[in-house]
Amino acid sequence: MSLQLPDGRKVRLGARTFGRGAEGLVHELAGTEDLCAKIYLDPAPDLHQRLVALMRTEPATWPGDHAEHLHVAWPRQALLDEGGRTIGFLMPRVAGRSLTRLFDPYVRAEAIDEPTWRVLVAVGARVARLLARLHQAGIVVGDVSPANIMVSPTGHVTLIDCDTVQFTDPATGIAHSCAKVTPEYAPPALACTGPASLTPADDAFGLGILICQLLMEGDHPFEGVPADPAEADALAQDNIRLRNNRILYPQRFVPLPGAIPPTVLPPQVMVLAQACFGEGHFRPEARPLPRSSARRPKRGRATRARSGSIWRRPAGGRFRSRRNWH
Ligand SMILES: Nc1ncnc2c1ncn2[C@@H]1O[C@H](COP(=O)(O)OP(=O)(O)O)[C@@H](O)[C@H]1O
Ligand SMILES: [Mg+2]
Repeated sequence: MSLQLPDGRKVRLGARTFGRGAEGLVHELAGTEDLCAKIYLDPAPDLHQRLVALMRTEPATWPGDHAEHLHVAWPRQALLDEGGRTIGFLMPRVAGRSLTRLFDPYVRAEAIDEPTWRVLVAVGARVARLLARLHQAGIVVGDVSPANIMVSPTGHVTLIDCDTVQFTDPATGIAHSCAKVTPEYAPPALACTGPASLTPADDAFGLGILICQLLMEGDHPFEGVPADPAEADALAQDNIRLRNNRILYPQRFVPLPGAIPPTVLPPQVMVLAQACFGEGHFRPEARPLPRSSARRPKRGRATRARSGSIWRRPAGGRFRSRRNWH
């Protein structure tokens, strides 16, 4: 396939692919290790307009947990086929592994340098801070999913799949809707119905699931064997709709020998998860939101990040966040 940049320069793909998602294939580029190319299987008619607007919206870089770490694999350049049609884009290539690889203890041991509980807590806090920074920039991720977060060997996180976010073009004021969500992480009744239909509280629901999974060896809080035989075939998204979660209603699932009980969650996380999946189930405004403030460690290794609590309750809520993760 012959590819070119908008200015006519040719781009050659390498032999390797880094991944295949529902929407496209992510390829190596010949001659560089810094960038990669996402080529869509079925490019949307408004893809070019969306990419141009996204590139104008790049969230400000911030020092985050690690000044040199790349937090978002934001699109850099549109890629055109020989006929001039936009079929993909260039973005920074992210080294590291998918966050899903942190769920299983054996796989985790190969994915990060220090596969400890403390690092898992730090990773969860970093994902929360990353979402909070994007929210501050007016961006809602929508497709919050561990498959869309890469983790470096030192436990620092990068958002990929950034082309699907909900954002507003700063030049034209045109709002672009979230292009897709992952049902296992989407709050009940979520639909990308309009350009600005999602709110940070929608991301907070997926974040809550992801953090519970990280701290419960990958067990999804809405997955398990339902105690009600009528719901035997329920998938995570069905249980989300039915409000069947193991945080508030463990009795709705058959206890499995050796399963990690939600009681292993740190007490503050348990409070946040209960708010997110309890009152926050129907009322998005009751969900704790991620927050970005972080207290930087005075000393210690990069993986020993300290932070404020990973979520904050919206103003006026009953819950008042406390510092934790210490
Ligand atoms: N910037 C990147 N650097 C390295 N690998 C990537 C990058 N972006 C995506 N990938 C790989 O490609 C896979 C699919 O990419 P993604 O953008 O999530 O596609 P989809 O929109 O189809 O879900 C990812 O799971 C990841 O393994
Ligand atoms: Mg993806």
